[in-house]
Order: sequence, then C-alpha cells, then structure tokens
Amino acid sequence: MSPVSVSTNRVVPGPQEPEEKTYHPSDGLFTDAHVPDFDAYLALYKKSTEEPEEFWADVAQEFYWKKPPSGPMLQYNFDVNKGNIYIKFMEGAKTNICYNILDRNVHERNLGEKVAYYWEGNSPDHHQNITYNQLLRNVCRCANALKLLGVKKGDRVAIYLPMIPELVYTMLACARIGAVHSIVFAGFSSESLCERIMDAQCNILVTADGVYRGDKLINLKKIASEALERCKESMASCVQKCVVVKHHAFRTNTDASNKLQVGQTVKLYGLLTVYDGFLAGKNLNRANVKFSYIQHLNGVLHTVTGYMLYTSLTFKYVFDYHHDDVYWCTADIGWITGHSYITYGPLANGATSVLFEGVPVYPHVGRLWEIIEKYGVSKFYTAPTAIRLLMKYGREPLQRYDLSSLCVLGTVGEPINPEAWLWYYDVVGQQRCPVIDTFWQTETGGHVLTPLPAATPLKPGSATCPFFGVQPAILNEHGEELEGEAEGYLVFRKPWPGIMRGVYGNQERFESTYFRKFPGFYVTGDGCRRDQDGYYWITGRIDDMLNVSGHLLSTAEVEAALTEHPSVAEAAVVSQPHAVKGECLYCFVTLKDHKEFNRTLMEELKRKVREKIGPIATPDFIQNAPGLPKTRSGKIMRRVLRQIARNEKDLGDLSTLADPKVVEVLFSQRCEAAA
Ligand code: WT7
Repeated sequence: MSPVSVSTNRVVPGPQEPEEKTYHPSDGLFTDAHVPDFDAYLALYKKSTEEPEEFWADVAQEFYWKKPPSGPMLQYNFDVNKGNIYIKFMEGAKTNICYNILDRNVHERNLGEKVAYYWEGNSPDHHQNITYNQLLRNVCRCANALKLLGVKKGDRVAIYLPMIPELVYTMLACARIGAVHSIVFAGFSSESLCERIMDAQCNILVTADGVYRGDKLINLKKIASEALERCKESMASCVQKCVVVKHHAFRTNTDASNKLQVGQTVKLYGLLTVYDGFLAGKNLNRANVKFSYIQHLNGVLHTVTGYMLYTSLTFKYVFDYHHDDVYWCTADIGWITGHSYITYGPLANGATSVLFEGVPVYPHVGRLWEIIEKYGVSKFYTAPTAIRLLMKYGREPLQRYDLSSLCVLGTVGEPINPEAWLWYYDVVGQQRCPVIDTFWQTETGGHVLTPLPAATPLKPGSATCPFFGVQPAILNEHGEELEGEAEGYLVFRKPWPGIMRGVYGNQERFESTYFRKFPGFYVTGDGCRRDQDGYYWITGRIDDMLNVSGHLLSTAEVEAALTEHPSVAEAAVVSQPHAVKGECLYCFVTLKDHKEFNRTLMEELKRKVREKIGPIATPDFIQNAPGLPKTRSGKIMRRVLRQIARNEKDLGDLSTLADPKVVEVLFSQRCEAAA
C-alpha cells in the first residue's frame, strides 16, 4: 500500500508563498542516510505493512532476548463489538530493557568509553560527562540501593526529580529490577504529586532536596513531604519509603542548602535516606531480570518489548541517527517525549545526548544556542512553543554562536504554524537542515506521522507521512472512511509495537476513550487533513474545533494565519457562543517584543484570516495577551481561554498551569464588545 503520491523532485522556488512550497534541503547533507530517498521510504513502508511479521522480526534481532517469542509477533482486537480490546506484541518473549540499552552497549558493542550524556545544569557552571561505563555502574548502584530498600519486581516507584543524572539512574534502576516507574514532572504541585502517587499505588518515592529553575529555588523536598502528608490524610497512603537525592547545586553551595532547611519540618515515612553517592554493588546477573513495564501520566501503560523496539527504531530513522551524532532533546523526562527520546530511544542506539536541566532563557536568551555550539549538537529536538518563545528575541542571539554542527531539527507537541516552521528552518537551520515535524501522543509511545530527514520532501506545518507499520485513516462524523483529499478524525486501523497496552487498572476507560467512538479503529482525538499529495496535516484536538455558521474550522489553521503577521509571536483561538452564527472566533494574540496592539493591527489580523481561510473565519474578538495559560509541558489550556472569553470566573483546577498569574491579566483585559 502506498501512503502517498508525492513527487520526489526538488521543487524549484516559484511564485508560491514560502509556506506553500515543498522543501527538500537535505541534498548532500546525508550521504549515508538510513533511508536515502522517498522511494526507499515507500519500499520499507510497504514491507512494514504487508509483511509486518518479517519486518519486526528483523528489528528484534538486534536485541538481547532471554526467551524469544513463542507465538505470532502481533495479536490484537481493535473492535469493541468483537470483545475486549487488546494488543499483544511478541507474546511470551522475555528480555530486560535496561540490559538492552546499557549492558549491551558496554559488553557487546564496545561503547563503554562513549559519552552517553553531556549533563548541563541549570547554571552553566554545572556540567558533567557520563560515559556508558559510568551510566551502567551508577544504574547498578541505584538498583542495588532500591533493592536494599525493598523494591521488588512489579512494585511501583514514584520519581519526582529534576533533570539531573540521578533521574536517569533511578528510572533505569527500576527497569533493571523490573519495577514500574511513574515519573512525575518536578514542576507539579504537592496535590498533583499525591494524586499520581495514589493512582499508581507507589510504595516508594524518590525525590531531591531542591532545584534551581532559572534563578528560582524550588524546595522539592518540602513539596514531596506535603504530598506524602496529603496521601496519608486520604487514608490511601501506600508510600513506605522516601529517598532524597542531594542535588549537585547544594553539594558545595552551603548557602543554598541552608536556605532549604529553613522552616522545614519534613516528616517522611519509614526510612529517609539521603544519598549523594549510590551504594556500590556488583552488576545484576542479566538472567535474574526478566520483565518490566513502564507507566506514564494518565495511567497510560506501555510494555517493555514493543516500546523498546519502537522507540529504538523511530529514533534511528526519524533523526537519521549515526554514531558520531550529538543529539539533544529539550523536553523533560517527566513527559513521554523525555522517556522515549531522551532515555530509551537514544540509549538503545548507543547515542550521545545532551541532558539539560535549565530553561531556554537563563542566564541569557541565547542559552540553547550556546549549548549547541558547546557540544557540537547535530540533531536538535524541541517544541513549537519553545521556537515561538525564542523567535520573539529575533536573530541576534543566534548570530553569536556557531550552529554549523546542526543537521536535523525536530519538533513535537502541537501543530507547528508555518511561520515558526520557516523561522526554525531559515534562522536556526540556515536553510540547510530539514525540519522534522513529528506527530505522536503519550499513547502512541513514539512517532507515528513524521518525515524522515533525507527521504521526505517537507511542507511547513505538515507532519507528512506515516512511520513504518503505522496505518492512518481519516473518518467522517459517521465513521465512514474518507479517501484522497479529505478532512476529519485521525484514526489508526492497526497497532504498531509502541502503542499503549491499556490504562493502569482501568480497561473500561481504555476502551471508551480510544475505541468506542469508531469500532475497529484507535481514535487519536485529533482532527486531520490529507492533501492532494497524501500528506497529513494535524488540525488540532477535535474538541477544540469551531462550528461557525455550520462550517467546521480548525483552531490551528486560524492560529497559523494570525501568526503570519509580522507583529504576532503567538496566537490561540477559542470559540464563543454567537446568537446568529452559533459560534464565533475569540482570538488571543501575544505580540513580539516592542510591537503595539492597536486598531490598525486588529484590522490587519482580520484581513489576514479572511484572505487565508475565508470570510467565514473572520475573528469577532481579538484580545491582546501578554502571556497565554499553558500547561507545564507548553500546551495552551484552551479550556481556560474559553472561560476567559465567556467571563466565567469559576475556573476549577488550575494546578497544571505553568504560570497561573496570566489568567488574572487576561481577565482584566477581556474584550467586552466585538472588534
Ligand atoms: C497531542 C499528544 C507526543 C509527545 C508530546 C505530547 C498534539 C503532538 C504534534 C504535532 C500536531 C501534535 C496532538 C496529540 N501533538 N505532536 N507534531 N503536530 N499536533 O504528548 O501530551 O500525549 O499530547 O499533542 O494533539 O494528540 P501528549
């Protein structure tokens, strides 16, 4: 089956608008690419869908198996009318993910001396290189420490740590023992931490004394102990032990560590172990460890085998990974992006990665570019929200650094508006590097729609084509499949190895969230358009769509039109009830530095949207938004914006907001009347 019908010729820039052009910048850059051209992609894709057993068996060969699979590679049911939903991949196989991503590199591939991580702290003065030998040793020490504390196979371990090497040691120590790690992003409140500890029924918590994020000191130990108090009050407390890592920043800096102690009465349960070194111990015998699985936010459950193969393979192809690469993903390991593409995927390939603790603009707005120069980063992976933030500061901060080592630029997290895509391409990549827009979800485990650097001609704003083994389809409201150029619900008709296996302890939620709406398909919840070339364009979450006078509009498209205006840094669009049209558009725009919000600008923005999409999409309201309410992973919280637009003051739970203060500001600047 051919997913697309794209012409592979390099497109000569013509009279088209830049965002409507096709880009194929990789000529000459990828002389030894794993997938050298589009025909090679099509051939591999065909094999992956027509002969999946052989395809995945080939991939699996590279790994260590304590016991090979006993049955077929893949068994599944996606149809709720035919019984329970299940996905089984390599049923009966036994392996250890930690052995495969560490010991195998050291003992079988001779990569012991290779750097696994360049750790770069929040402060530029803190950094550390960790080789595969050192990583393996520290993971073994940590595993032994956890075992001494009573952690066994199948136990759940809550990890509430900042982006320090100990976070990687602890998660891999769990994988080594066969315990389940549930990593909670270290920006979450005590309430959220408590909730997640209870959801996963964790019996041990690993945290740190504190951390600096930019110049802000965060007292993690205090938040953790509040969370444990809270768990205890709810009578559902399961945490027996809490381990506190002493953060690098406080090992020598007594001033800061003293500050942390002030006013604190930490009462942790059971044993409180402060470790700044790990217990020494001999390596675990690989035959002792058989099976482990991991779990993320929302109870999404992943299993070892499929997840390992899928993150490893996507990492290799999507970043066209080679052994001399220095790879950097700016996500936090608390999110799935960090699990898959800072820890498991890169390590399975024996890659060298940057592990960055800090924030993009501290101590100066050129920090990311400085790090790229410092380590000679060749493959860089970030989110549209970070790109838009950095765009605000213009080209100057980049011009101070040598970015010539870069050759692939990746993005993930939300639809990337063509304006940001082009800036990433022109200014960061100097028109040399393909921009790889990877569409995926916590639930998919790894990339599912994505270009491949040397193979796929690019279109700004499109996640392009399916990865190997992935079979997308577009359905209309009635569940009918749409062929050719179409817009509707994005679904997948078959599982791939990385897909989630369930919701922890809740089969009902698993089935109702992802499979009930359209029996026979996995439903992503995203809207999507397929163009005449077979390229996929994500239009945003279905729940965020607007219906204006009977026309379905995607928020992503209107936002892309608004951000094309040279004064606009970021935009978010929500629906507002309208007496005549049913719904109308309420737009929030964040301007670039030193730009003025006035009537002329409003008129220009309205014109822009009319021209790009049509008069039907003309915004009724345009509000100046100095900031937007975002989750800590950078996603805009549209629910909150809808409530601001409607002047509904009862906002409910805001604990996942990165900066709750913006909400007040936005309320105070609401548009009362249509623009
Ligand atoms: C949702 C998944 C995948 C890791 C980070 C987020 C949106 C993600 C893209 C993209 C358009 C995207 C979708 C998706 N999304 N990547 N390249 N283009 N939209 O994981 O929190 O599970 O969110 O993020 O809406 O469903 P997540």
